Order: sequence, then structure tokens, then C-alpha cells
Amino acid sequence: MNHALLALPTTAPERSVRTIRVALAGCGAVGGQFLALLRAQSASIAAARGIRAEITRVLVRSTDLPRAVPLPPHILTADVESFLRSPADVVVEAIGGIDPALRIAHAAIATGRGFITANKALVAEHGAALEQLAARHAAGLRFEAAVAGGVPVIRVLRDAIAHDEVRSIAGILNGTTNYILTRMETGASFAAALADAQANGFAEADPSRDLDGRDSADKIRILAWLAFGTSPSTLLPERRGLLPAPDALTSAAAAAGGAVRLIAETTRLDGGVSAVVEPVLVSGSSEFARTAAQDNLILVDSAWTGRLALAGAGAGGRPTASSLLADLLDATPRPPRRDAASTPLRGVADPRAFRWLIATTAPPPQARDFSAGERIGMEDVLPHAFDRRTHVLTEPCTRARVDALLRRIHHAGFAADWLRCELKQ
Ligand SMILES: NC(=O)c1ccc[n+]([C@@H]2O[C@H](COP(=O)([O-])OP(=O)(O)OC[C@H]3O[C@@H](n4cnc5c(N)ncnc54)[C@H](OP(=O)(O)O)[C@@H]3O)[C@@H](O)[C@H]2O)c1
Repeated sequence: MNHALLALPTTAPERSVRTIRVALAGCGAVGGQFLALLRAQSASIAAARGIRAEITRVLVRSTDLPRAVPLPPHILTADVESFLRSPADVVVEAIGGIDPALRIAHAAIATGRGFITANKALVAEHGAALEQLAARHAAGLRFEAAVAGGVPVIRVLRDAIAHDEVRSIAGILNGTTNYILTRMETGASFAAALADAQANGFAEADPSRDLDGRDSADKIRILAWLAFGTSPSTLLPERRGLLPAPDALTSAAAAAGGAVRLIAETTRLDGGVSAVVEPVLVSGSSEFARTAAQDNLILVDSAWTGRLALAGAGAGGRPTASSLLADLLDATPRPPRRDAASTPLRGVADPRAFRWLIATTAPPPQARDFSAGERIGMEDVLPHAFDRRTHVLTEPCTRARVDALLRRIHHAGFAADWLRCELKQ
């Protein structure tokens, strides 16, 4: 067979490697990075999980475009029907939209194959029906990449707190609008911020689904489905996006001393489940205001676990590809852990240099002598700054070196407390 082997052979001699055939629909920002990630991690995946992913076919619109990972021409196809007949154990979809993504999902699931998607529109509209189909055909349906890019919120709702009673979920779920809003906080107009987002790959050529809140609405429908069991196709959030007057929104928020964030929220109520997407005026010191650029933040409130905050890269090819790969690995049985004797990594001393704030009972001249003895520079020495101790701020040095300084201070009969200093210089 003449398939592309993107994976390298395993280096772990004791583990046999099983080949998983993967057909990939879409090789753009997400699909291209998925291939790059598979290639970069192939040896470690083979060693740790005993799997080698073999890419059998890649569906694109135009077979002539350059790709993130060079592919043999026979792997690429623009013919959906031929793609549907690809030899594959798992189909990964990163095309977007409903057609042909839905046809691909049906074909994969109805033939008992795993189907993994990054497509929130598909999952929001057809997720429940696809899940029923998957149950009938003993096929897997996974969509971690469809909500919040690299933030593993689907796993948290499906696995970590599946036993809990979720009360509400609120989040910044759209990286494009968040990027635009935070650029506007530094003085950019909406038009300039949007152009900047497009130039940096954080907004598509047609950003209307992001700006009018449909993208966030799709994601909150999926989260409500997992948290409350409401069918996503029937839950229609009240929705207001940033349009029509984003400049006025952000000016009003700034005048009120806060910030605007596009927040999607779903809440369990006595009579059912509410869902809303709208721009919200948040306090400048809130977690939402501090979620900047293309990042996402999701706050989950549940009866037993309490409040969970998940934050990270909500968009971008690399984080989203990482979620696709996690789903691919989940779709295959996990082998037993290797015993510690064969674990290749051992603990080592932290080599990074930090500044340290040391509070010691040693008077300033002696504190200086001790630092000089260990050849650690001092940025500041504050005699009796806060209490009767001397406070020393060191220049960056490793943990091992500051340990030596502390030993020297203790050895001379003085007490010393210390803090690693993360304050900006
Ligand atoms: N980009 C992100 O940060 C991000 C984050 C989370 C989730 N997602 C989701 O991931 C999916 C893919 O997004 P993306 O940003 O990677 O999109 P993209 O860069 O536009 O890539 C889309 C890929 O699909 C192919 N394609 C599109 N329509 C097709 C059709 N009708 N037939 C065959 N191939 C077709 C394109 O082919 P050509 O290359 O030949 O045009 C391209 O390779 C979407 O569902 C999106 O919502 C994206």
C-alpha cells in the first residue's frame, strides 16, 4: 500500500506498535498543524501509546496549494466521494461548515469508524443526532477541539465532573472578538483592531460569525448539552454580538471604569436552561477583563466541585491541533504504564534564574557580605523596611545558589525567610 507514513518507527523495543489509519478532511490552519503535530510527536506517541498514525487520505478544496507538511500528491484529494471511501479507522474533520462535513461524519460513523471534529457549527447543529448514530454503530464521536481550541473543557465536563450537578457555565469563548476588544482597550478603533486580527491570523476573511456572536452561541450550546443534557439543536441562545457599534461599547465601558467582554453563559433554572451571548461590562480587575487577546476563559460552577476556571488558547492551529490529537489518542486503548525503571526522564535541579526577596535578621553589612561570599549580586537592600529585619532583593540567580546563600546566613546564626520574586523589574 502506498500510504503516507507521517509517523516514525518507535524507539521502544518492548512495545509493539499498532497502526491507526487516519483520513483527514481539511488541511488549513487546524488540519495542517494536526499533521505537523503528528509528525513531530510520532516517536513519543509510538513509545508511550504503542500507536502509529498513518495518514491515508487528506481532503482539501484545492490540491495545488502548499501545505504545512509536504504530502505525496496521491494522498491529497478534492473529491469528497473518493475521500468517503478512504481506508481509515478514524476520520478527523477540520473543514468547517455543514456540507460536506456532515456527509463525512455520517459516512464515518455509519461504518463504525471513529469521528473526531473541530467543527463547532456541526456539533451544535447535529451533535445529538450524530451521538445517537455513533451509539447505534459502536463508533466514537469526539469534539474537544470544537470548543475553546486547546482548552480541555469538553473533557472536564464529560469526565472530570461528569458526576456533578453543574449550575452554570460562563465564558469568553471567542478568541477573535476578545483579541479585537483588548486591542481597542489600547486605543485602536474597531476597524483597525479587526484588520490587525485578520493580519495576525486571529480572524477569518469573513468574521461575521465571530462578531455577531453565532460562534460563541454554537459553543455554549455544546457546553449546555454536556452539562445539562439539553439538545444543542433546540437550545437557541439569546444573542447579541459586538455589532453594530463596537467603538461606542468600548468607550462607554472605559468611561465607567470597566471593560467589555463578549460572554456566553448558560444556567440551569427551575423551569429549564437559559443561554445567552452578549457583550458585558465587566470590572477592570475581573478574571474576564484580565483574559486578553485571543485567550478564552471558562468558569464552571457546580454543586460539589464548586467553581472551576479553565483558561488558555481558545483559537489557533497549534492548540486546536493538540485537542484533535488528544481525541485521536483517546480513541485508542491506553496501554499499561511502563514501570519506573524504564522511564527515561529523571528529576533534575531547576536551572532557571529568578530574583529572590530575602528577609533576614542579619544587619545590612553582614547581609551584603554573605551575598558577596556567594557571588550573588543585590538589586536592593532595605534595612528595617517592614519589620526589624533586613530585606534583600537579589539579582537573578538559580535556586541552588540562593539555597547556598541561605545556608550561609543560617550557619552564621541568623534567621532568613525568602520568596521567589515574580515582580517585573
Ligand atoms: N482556526 C482556528 O483557530 C480554529 C480553532 C478551533 C476550531 N476551528 C475549527 O476548525 C475547522 C477548520 O478551521 P481552519 O481554521 O483550519 O479552516 P481553514 O484554514 O479555512 O481550513 C479549511 C480546510 O478545509 C478545506 N476545505 C474547506 N471546504 C472544503 C470542501 N468543501 N471540500 C474540501 N475541502 C474543503 C480547505 O481546503 P483548501 O486548503 O484547499 O482551501 C482547508 O484545507 C473549522 O470547523 C473551525 O471552526 C478552528
